[in-house]
Amino acid sequence: MITLSGIQKNYQMGDQTVQALRGVDLHIARNELVAFIGASGSGKSTLMNIVGCLDRPSAGTYQLNGRDVATMDSDELALVRNAEIGFIFQSFHLLPRATALDNVAQPLIYRGIGYKERNRMAMEALDHVGLSSRMHHKPNELSGGQRQRVAIARALVGKPSILLADEPTGNLDSSTSLEILALIKEVHRAGQTVVMVTHEPEIAEQCHRVVRLHDGRVLSDVRNVQQDPHAQVVDDEQQRHAELGE
Ligand SMILES: Nc1ncnc2c1ncn2[C@@H]1O[C@H](COP(=O)(O)OP(=O)(O)OP(=O)(O)O)[C@@H](O)[C@H]1O
Ligand SMILES: [Mg+2]
Repeated sequence: MITLSGIQKNYQMGDQTVQALRGVDLHIARNELVAFIGASGSGKSTLMNIVGCLDRPSAGTYQLNGRDVATMDSDELALVRNAEIGFIFQSFHLLPRATALDNVAQPLIYRGIGYKERNRMAMEALDHVGLSSRMHHKPNELSGGQRQRVAIARALVGKPSILLADEPTGNLDSSTSLEILALIKEVHRAGQTVVMVTHEPEIAEQCHRVVRLHDGRVLSDVRNVQQDPHAQVVDDEQQRHAELGE
């Protein structure tokens, strides 16, 4: 569903070029739960922004659901983003003066969905994240964990093919982080493809696959057999073949 090859991203800073990504190859299949980890400055957010069609690579190709998005102009990219991508951020990025309901309904405006239907869909999404009773609260009338739930409802309301989360628990205390992680895992179990950036090893180890970036390159890409029943099946098969001497 996502195929990146030879992705490079350079930032021009005066007469200096910052090479944020130096050739990333990555394939992510439907319904994977992937963590991007790595030191500060290793390129995690840059890669997420490219995967999420917020930014274009300087070189390389990116196929999203069979379409070449690396060469699209910003209008085309915005359309793809609106249809395919749900984003959540460390700092929630909610509209401060809008209620939870209006925040969640907002992305549906750009899809030309009418007011009543938008509200129905937004209510359903808020119900999914356990916030039916907080629909009319504004962000400053909600706790951090509740704000992130609103952001998750907003990211998912348009049924995107991929949910991207850049340090979704970075601003939350540890018990709230676990609640948000549990919610993300539930969303994943329901069939959603999820990619998240995290600094926290306890969060990464709950993902099926951990991609470690270093200096703009993929340093390692490891599948966690304990978390991923599919990996187990493949392993068992490989084991059987090995035992049979095949
Ligand atoms: N808009 C920009 N202009 C110039 N340089 C940038 C820009 N964004 C990122 N960079 C540089 O690109 C490199 C990768 O940055 P990126 O934000 O992807 O790192 P990160 O892995 O997300 O780090 P962190 O864990 O601190 O969030 C860094 O060296 C950074 O300074
Ligand atoms: Mg970052």
